[in-house]
Amino acid sequence: MSDLAGKHIVLGLSGGVAAYKAAEFCRGLVKAGATVQVVMTDAAEHFITPVTMQALSGRPVYTSQWDAREGNNMPHINLSREADAIVIAPASADFLAKLLHGRADDLLSLLCLARPIERVPLIVAPAMNREMYAHPATQRNLAQLRADGTVVLGVGSGDQACGETGDGRMLEPDELLEELIAHFQPKRLAGKHVLITAGPTFEAIDPVRGITNRSSGKMGFAIARAAREAGAQVTLVAGPVALPTPRGVQRVDVESAADMQRAVQASADAADVFIAAAAVADWRPASAADQKIKKDGSGAVPALAFVENPDILAGVAASARAKSGALYCVGFAAESHDLLAHAQAKRARKGVPLLVGNIGPDTFGRDHNALLLVDANGASELPRADKLSLARALMAEIARRLG
Ligand code: CTP
Repeated sequence: MSDLAGKHIVLGLSGGVAAYKAAEFCRGLVKAGATVQVVMTDAAEHFITPVTMQALSGRPVYTSQWDAREGNNMPHINLSREADAIVIAPASADFLAKLLHGRADDLLSLLCLARPIERVPLIVAPAMNREMYAHPATQRNLAQLRADGTVVLGVGSGDQACGETGDGRMLEPDELLEELIAHFQPKRLAGKHVLITAGPTFEAIDPVRGITNRSSGKMGFAIARAAREAGAQVTLVAGPVALPTPRGVQRVDVESAADMQRAVQASADAADVFIAAAAVADWRPASAADQKIKKDGSGAVPALAFVENPDILAGVAASARAKSGALYCVGFAAESHDLLAHAQAKRARKGVPLLVGNIGPDTFGRDHNALLLVDANGASELPRADKLSLARALMAEIARRLG
């Protein structure tokens, strides 16, 4: 993964138990291709040593505004001008209060104040006890920091170092990384609401059995992440898959095609784009048994009858909003052969402006894929790549078509 290649990050640590997560976060930044300059406050040094952070970042840590290593003796100027972003993780309640007032009595607060505000974003990851986080003073400070242009990340909820439980934990290192990577992606879909289906559906035969398919949901989840990175509000209607929810995405879990259709209908009116990436079961058992179907010992097998599931995509594409162009619909086609011909036929049959074809056995469960985009002007290929890269390229294609 080289999502942060060429980016230089100033990673600031203020005092908090969550400093241990900053070590892992620093490692993640370096792995993602960033160069990292760590700056620590005195309080941070009570929780983790500069030795650890130097080893992980590969650079000596700065801790003082009087650091004479800089030729001009102005580390606050030099460090802030080199940065593509300054990330404070953990950002303690006290440090946030300092930032708010523009106080600058140590190197980290000094370089935050000295940064070129138009060019160098300041991103803070709050970390504190739940009472401190909920306190009106902290909430007021966070609101004002946002108004001043600071990117304030959310917090986690759960067990806290103090033994209490609630909001205020710093985000986990992989969540911080996802947020920072998203921050640098172009906001091509800002202001848009994107509705996505992903994964397989599960059609019950009885309370313990059912039919499903091999879709892993990875492509649809990558699309949800890419849409959110592009600035969209995202609703992800997911069939039964064991994948983590991309950050900032609203997820609705469903099982059957009928559930999926209901969830899609509930959100379609507010959406600007609908992307049907789910592998919806074409048929379901005509009736699901209330109780487990038992063998009776005679060797007789149950006679299963099937009925066709509703076509969720075709239904949405036939709506007035889709027909007027207010809702842009994108279908997927998972084929085994003759991809172009099948994709073109499916585009016409589903009544969608854009159909994305892929070869089912080459994508189901895998991390890489290749896509064939078919629209009114013809076909173009997105060559084999990891699914997140493909999803980002697809978002760019959709944004271009939205105009
Ligand atoms: N789709 C849907 N509802 C269904 C079936 C499919 O919304 N009941 C959507 C899929 O999410 C995908 C597109 O329609 O975007 C094509 O799905 P696919 O299974 O490839 O096509 P089918 O319509 O099932 O056609 P066939 O089985 O003949 O290939």
